[in-house]
Amino acid sequence: MDMLIFELERNSDKPLYEQLYVGIKNAIISKRIEVGTKLPSKRKLADFLNISQTTIEIAYAQLLAEGYIISVPRVGYFVETIDDLPYVENETNLEPVPLVIKQSFEIDFNPGTIDLDGFPFTTWRKYAKLLIDEHNKDLLLTGHPQGEYELRVEIAKYLYQSRGVVCSPEQIVIGSGTEQLLPMIIRLLNSNEFAIENPGYKTVNRIIKHTGRTVFPIQVDEEGIRISDLEQTTANVVYVTPSHQFPTGAVLSATRRSQLLNWAAQHSDRFIIEDDYDSEFRYLGKPIPSLQGLDNNDKVIYMSTFTKSLMPSLRVAYFVLPKSLLSTYHNTFTYYTSTVPRFDQHILANFMKDGHFAKHLNRMRKLYKKKHEHMTEVIERHYPTLSISGEYAGMNIVLSVPHDLSEQQLKEKASNHGIGVYPISNYMISPIEYNVPQFLLGFGGLNFDGIENAIHKLMSIWDVKRVN
Ligand SMILES: Cc1ncc(COP(=O)(O)O)c(C=O)c1O
Repeated sequence: MDMLIFELERNSDKPLYEQLYVGIKNAIISKRIEVGTKLPSKRKLADFLNISQTTIEIAYAQLLAEGYIISVPRVGYFVETIDDLPYVENETNLEPVPLVIKQSFEIDFNPGTIDLDGFPFTTWRKYAKLLIDEHNKDLLLTGHPQGEYELRVEIAKYLYQSRGVVCSPEQIVIGSGTEQLLPMIIRLLNSNEFAIENPGYKTVNRIIKHTGRTVFPIQVDEEGIRISDLEQTTANVVYVTPSHQFPTGAVLSATRRSQLLNWAAQHSDRFIIEDDYDSEFRYLGKPIPSLQGLDNNDKVIYMSTFTKSLMPSLRVAYFVLPKSLLSTYHNTFTYYTSTVPRFDQHILANFMKDGHFAKHLNRMRKLYKKKHEHMTEVIERHYPTLSISGEYAGMNIVLSVPHDLSEQQLKEKASNHGIGVYPISNYMISPIEYNVPQFLLGFGGLNFDGIENAIHKLMSIWDVKRVN
């Protein structure tokens, strides 16, 4: 043990040696200092606590005499094994906080997981090693509040080429996840009322409500969010996932895109937050260009993340601000430090600059396409009573399961047999009437060879009639 910190009260009636002795003794009894730990040397501890060596000597001698520690000549003092001593309660003992443990399933159709075998560890390691080997001391200091310029340059290039987003690196702000960036966006906007998609990404609902704003849930159909319903509200800001609605997978139709942009253009405080989550993976037809690229009025705040395209644990997401919001952003936020480690940002920037991100996306798109096709083919061939909705994109399908049991009963049945399924009602911001149970079935994290068996197992648990 390098050092020990104790709060010693110099004006107390109790002498310092006694306070120190009691502090160390209690720490040993309550096992905060483990058996066998070497205590700091008397000189070091005296320097650290700014008290005399004699005080430490007396405290250690007392602990030694009572058998809490032993002395090894020319090596130091070590904590001794003590059995059956009563545990000393003190005010610092807090109730243990229960850990939130995610339920784990033998087969998990979680739409949020990725293929764990596809990550290019070797290439990533190469960039991490190169960066460390450079000994760039500047990277030890904090960087630009908006994120490293080099990474913003790469993101701007990628967004233009792949998503049709028109922006400069100066408009990009990098942060550690959509959940961390959304409250920033909300603070930038002069609005107390937000419209969001229903069903939708529940975290957005929570975040907006936490900031004390009002949420209007707007129903989604096969063409995406209903603009006529949005127009009935007093909201000035709307959060949408137009390229691949989460969770239904609907694509916002061309008519609704222009209606939405027109809605925003009608008032100076109106803005659209476009979350492009999950849009990298489209398996049929042309990619759907972003709404931001269609907008001529500076009304769209575009946001996206590397959670699906690289890994959820990276915690790198970003938003692109319209030029009209840049000065508000600078006045409000530039005194905050970026939340993403600079080393990670540079590894990612170099990885993108040398074309590895594009290669990785292509490889993963092929892999997910195969999994998607396989899952839909198995369902269509063997279970004709079920129907699949959502576009040919993303990492999950939406399955309608006509059944006598309710959605929750089907979920529980699957769960009791070790299978995780995700009912559409989990994503409802406010209740919507519908007759047939629906589930999100994610395929990203499933092994290709296991997909067919996983579907058959689920259907046999649900007693869904199989043909062929
Ligand atoms: C629509 C949508 N956007 C963003 C996210 C998460 O993004 P991040 O990992 O960057 O916080 C999710 C996660 O489920 C999501 O559903």
